Formats: sequence, C-alpha cells, structure tokens
Amino acid sequence: MKIETIVTPLLDWFYSQARILPWRENPTPYRVWISEIMLQQTRVEAVKPYYDRFMQRLESIEELALIEEQELLKLWEGLGYYNRARNLKKTANIVVDQYDGKLPASYEELQKLPGIGSYTAGAVASIAYKIKAPAVDGNVLRVFSRLLLYEKDVLSQKAKKEIEQLVMEIMPDDPAAFNQALMELGALVCVPNGKPKCEKCPLENLCLAKAEDRMMEYPKKTPKKPRVIENRTILVIKDQNKAAIQKRPEKGLLAGMYEFPSLNGHVSEEDVIAYLKETGIEVIRIQALEKSKHIFSHIEWHMIGYEVRVDELSPLKKTNEQLLFMTAKDTQDHYPIPTAFLAYTKYLNIQLGIYEK
Ligand code: ADE
Ligand code: SF4
Repeated sequence: MKIETIVTPLLDWFYSQARILPWRENPTPYRVWISEIMLQQTRVEAVKPYYDRFMQRLESIEELALIEEQELLKLWEGLGYYNRARNLKKTANIVVDQYDGKLPASYEELQKLPGIGSYTAGAVASIAYKIKAPAVDGNVLRVFSRLLLYEKDVLSQKAKKEIEQLVMEIMPDDPAAFNQALMELGALVCVPNGKPKCEKCPLENLCLAKAEDRMMEYPKKTPKKPRVIENRTILVIKDQNKAAIQKRPEKGLLAGMYEFPSLNGHVSEEDVIAYLKETGIEVIRIQALEKSKHIFSHIEWHMIGYEVRVDELSPLKKTNEQLLFMTAKDTQDHYPIPTAFLAYTKYLNIQLGIYEK
C-alpha cells in the first residue's frame, strides 16, 4: 500500500462526517489548546460540559493567567490529572508575560511551554494556525499501526517519531482537517476497546490489518508495570454542621487538591479513636463506611472509611493544625476534591465536578 492513498478518502469522510464539537466552532488558539488538554485522557462526552463552563468563566488567556489556582482546580474537579490544570496556568502566565498574550504560531515554540508536548503543539499549530505539523495521539498511532501492520511498540518514543514523520510526508494542504480526521477515525471507527468498525471505515480497502483480519493484534504495546497498591483509611470527621478537610502537598499525586484526612493502611476503629485522641479530637461516635477503590495511572488506592462524629471542634493540637472545618456548602463551592473520594463525599451531601442529571 502507498500510504498517501489514504489522504483523499480520509478527508472526504471527515468533511462529510465530522462531529460538531464546541471547540470546532471558532477554533482560536486558546480554545483549541484548552480543548486538547481536556481531551487528553478524557472522553469527548465527558469534556463537553467542562469545556463550556471553563470558557464561560475564562474567556481569554489573560483571565486564565489571573485565576487563583484553587478556583482553577475547582473548575477542573472531576476531570482528573490535575497537573494538566496547573500547567495551563503556568503556560498562560508565560504567554501573557513573554508572548504578548498570544500562543506562539510555531510547532517548535509551542513545545517549550509547560504541559505542551508534540501532540498538543501539533494540534494547536494545525487546527488553529493551519500550520503543517503532525498531531499524533494514541488514536492516530492505533490507526497507523493497523493500516500498516506496524510492529513497533506504539508507546515508544521511536514509534511516535516515525509516525509523526509519516504524517508529515503525506500532509495535505488542510492540516487542520487531516489531523482531526485521523483522530476522529481513531475515536469513532478504528476504536481502542473491542473490534474496530471496519465496515464504516473509509480506509477499509487500503488497510493491511483488515486485509488479513488481524485488527485485534494491533497496536503492539509492551505491557506496563503493574500499579502499586496503597491501602488507606479515610476519615469523614464531622461535628454538628462542619466536616474536616485538608490540603494535599503542593507536589506529587493530586497536588494542591483538598481531601479528607486519612491514615496509611487499613486501620481499626479502636486505632482511629486512639489516633484522634492523641491529636486532641474526642470521638462521640464512629461508624464504618463502605470500601472503595480508585485507580490512578501508577497507583491504586484501596480505601476503607469511617464517619467520625466529634463534639464541637476543640482547639487542635499542633499535629492537626492543617485540618480545616468547613460546611458542606463551602466545601462544595470552593474546595477542589478529587473524585478519588467520591464514595465518601456523599456523607457530606456534596457533589463533585459536573454531573449531568
Ligand atoms: N481527540 C482529541 N482532540 C480531538 C479533536 N480535535 N478531534 C477529535 N477527537 C479528538
Ligand atoms: Fe481501523 Fe478497520 Fe479502518 Fe483498518 S479498516 S483502519 S482496522 S477501522
């Protein structure tokens, strides 16, 4: 197969079938950038309501540069991978300070900004600036690996570089459409989980995997290391109308987010009571809550929980002075809590993120 033969059928398919998406109307560099960052690791349908709310609150890169991190994380709450949001703000500050408030119209310059790798740089350059640049994400790698029976590990840097080069070799005059057509084909037709929908694919007659009925063998990936399992005990500590939360460290997993206090390991009721007593909290009642599990990229939290009723919160000893006692409404309105705690936030009657009714 000559790989350039995919260009015309793919573009024709995209021009006639492209989804209408909020960021495709008026694709300014700022709007494309935000959408592409949100779409990393998150499905289009989940992103839409977040995207609309974000754009209403932060219409320009200047506004993004000015927002408090805590409010930004609150807007991001529920999307996960919160460093994406922190990097957005870092990049907005750099762009306002050094680029006159405009994302640079250069594939290379874009990649120097925090949180912008070759994929995002290529997406912004091609979709917003109509620059010929590759935008190769997991969808695009999967499409090419099937089209070509590509043997290399698609998670390797080498594979990504090779496919990026290949995309450039066949790049037509409409890079915005071509890159999005490749992504869209990967998202809707040449799908990741389960059988690809080859009967709907504009490249069906060209595809080498289809010809040999070996679609499910591609893309090749070397298995990842198993995730580390961490046992945690989550404490929902309440007095009459407030509950305790605390800020996580500024670095590492879920940096800057808020959480329920917790203990390492799975801790017994008695040990929780003893621990709290040491830190100056007198327990009135304690009740076990359900188990819950949360999967991050490299770690799994296996959680148990307790609801702990305390008397009026007496002055805390030093070890606990980072605890904040907040009403449910304040927590819901102002404090970003990761969905890892979803099983336990319901005991405060608060909702996390954007939930479609
Ligand atoms: N996934 C990530 N970015 C996309 C885009 N611009 N079009 C379709 N799917 C995408
Ligand atoms: Fe993917 Fe099937 Fe299309 Fe090949 S024919 S690119 S396997 S959807």
